[in-house]
Amino acid sequence: MITINANAKINLTLDILGKREDGYHEVSMIMQSIDLFDTLTFTEIEEGIILHGDVEGVEKPQDNLIYKAAKLFLDTYKIKSGVEINLIKRIPVAAGLAGGSTDAAAVFRGLNALFEMNLGIQSMCKMAEKLGSDISFCLLGGTMLATGRGEILQEIAAMPTVDMVLVKPKFAVSTPWVYKNYHKVENKVVHPNNKLMRKALLKKDIQEICNNLGNVLEMVTIPEYPEIKAIKETLCNYGAKAAMMSGSGPTVFAIVENNKLAKEIASKMQQDFDAEIFVVKTVAKNF
Ligand code: C5P
Repeated sequence: MITINANAKINLTLDILGKREDGYHEVSMIMQSIDLFDTLTFTEIEEGIILHGDVEGVEKPQDNLIYKAAKLFLDTYKIKSGVEINLIKRIPVAAGLAGGSTDAAAVFRGLNALFEMNLGIQSMCKMAEKLGSDISFCLLGGTMLATGRGEILQEIAAMPTVDMVLVKPKFAVSTPWVYKNYHKVENKVVHPNNKLMRKALLKKDIQEICNNLGNVLEMVTIPEYPEIKAIKETLCNYGAKAAMMSGSGPTVFAIVENNKLAKEIASKMQQDFDAEIFVVKTVAKNF
């Protein structure tokens, strides 16, 4: 049996450079893994794909990204046996944290180990691209600049370990909806400066990192869900250095001085908002 922990991510920056011919958006974003994770276990069975655990909410198992990733892996490498997968879910879904993508990435890593395939990261990233834009990042983890649809990755200076508070309000946001409505605000957005963010990362200057956080999708999601703005403001009022929405939302992450303050802020936020709250840290790459 193989066990894999699948980390969530946040976006330190998320910029959109334009619309592509394939319908996706050209992005330039700096992504960072955090130590909030799902746990997946993989056991070889005679045939088929069986999913157990926290997979409710999915009408048909075939629609689940975990199932799709396992099927793609078994079909691509013509593996005759099947796999039983158990999922312990901790990362909220439709939250801007890559909760679905990271499980798919864990399937590739898990099956690679279970069937002793010895596949390199590049081969797994090729498969990942077929299933979703953020899965390649989840395979690598750490601190990366992602371009293209999000699948072209460049390793950059690692973010120093920082304490964070995550606040996920009790509603889900549809990523396709957010991207589809981006054109309505694109003339008004303030684009993050990835060059400055990379300099800040290189210097391990947390204040400069905080100053350069930026996400153009906030302009789409926040007007529809004003609670996100209230969450950001409250986190800063409680002493966070900076707070920003991750991905297409609605989760807000706040960078905080230390773990003690993170816990204090988390407990106050729990009283103020109907939300899931996590105290987390940034983590290094998987490979
Ligand atoms: O690639 P993934 O399936 O995760 O993307 C979900 C949706 O988000 C896409 O169907 C698309 O509508 C939107 N998207 C986009 N441009 C990107 C990534 C995602 O328009 N670079």
